[in-house]
Amino acid sequence: MTIAEAIAEGARRLHNASVPEERRTAGVLLCHLLGVDRTHLLTRSDEEIEPSRYEQYIEFVERRASGEPVQYITGHQEFYGRDFAVTPDALIPRPETEFIIERVIALSALRPVASVPLIVDIGTGSGCIAVTLAAEFPAARVIATDISSAALNVARANAERHSVSSRIEFLEGDLFEPLAGRGLEGAIDFIATNPPYVPSEDQYVLQREVREWEPQVALFGGPKGLDIYRLLLADAQNYLKPDGFLVCEIGYTQLDRVTEMINETGLEVVEVTSDLQGFPRTLTIRKL
Ligand SMILES: C[S@@+](CC[C@H](N)C(=O)[O-])C[C@H]1O[C@@H](n2cnc3c(N)ncnc32)[C@H](O)[C@@H]1O
Repeated sequence: MTIAEAIAEGARRLHNASVPEERRTAGVLLCHLLGVDRTHLLTRSDEEIEPSRYEQYIEFVERRASGEPVQYITGHQEFYGRDFAVTPDALIPRPETEFIIERVIALSALRPVASVPLIVDIGTGSGCIAVTLAAEFPAARVIATDISSAALNVARANAERHSVSSRIEFLEGDLFEPLAGRGLEGAIDFIATNPPYVPSEDQYVLQREVREWEPQVALFGGPKGLDIYRLLLADAQNYLKPDGFLVCEIGYTQLDRVTEMINETGLEVVEVTSDLQGFPRTLTIRKL
């Protein structure tokens, strides 16, 4: 069996299972298995694959055909130019979440930042936000919390991988609860968070691979998806420095409701960033 034949067979099986981008997906799985890049697949398409390797590849293809996301099969996802390990214990980092990183970088360029800024990521999951910000701000101290100890293990591994473990403290617990009693009220420069915001009443319109594979605790934020914001906003106000910022992601229909909630607190929205599809996705919120 050659590379070209393996791709054709993988794509055929994925197409029959209605998996989109079947050739690209077959290529990603084969690259992962053979430890080669896409150029290798294109330029050496006549190369023979060992039968045992081919069998493993077909197993990967069948996992994808039965709904498992590619990233859980390969164990990787790129985020802001860095490679993150992912397992079904943590949400797969999404490209739109990179806007949070861009916003924090832009805000720090515009104003004087403390010599050791304190950045907090609530609901760190794979650690993509906390680890990226620690890497982008080599002087920063970062605290990353999550209610899921399994997700925190994934985040710790990613911090090791990117050599920022010594500057990130990982704490297990509900939202800001693990920060209590540490004298951090009014001390945080940036809170960066991508909370669970999918309305549980919309669960059946979610893609099957998301609904069946990604952790429920990472997805759903109550019936309308707004429960976590309500709790987050009250505490964010308490923990931010005066003039500190909360940068958070929202669901594509949630701008009006979340803005109303923000207006009831001592916080104000200073910028709304739209994602590549034009949906309002990232809010920059300042403590008044
Ligand atoms: C949407 S995921 C975001 C993960 C990661 N920050 C990212 O952007 O890919 C939300 C994360 O919040 C965590 N979470 C859910 N409820 C929480 C709570 N009450 N307190 C702390 N973390 C929570 C979940 O375990 C999950 O890792």
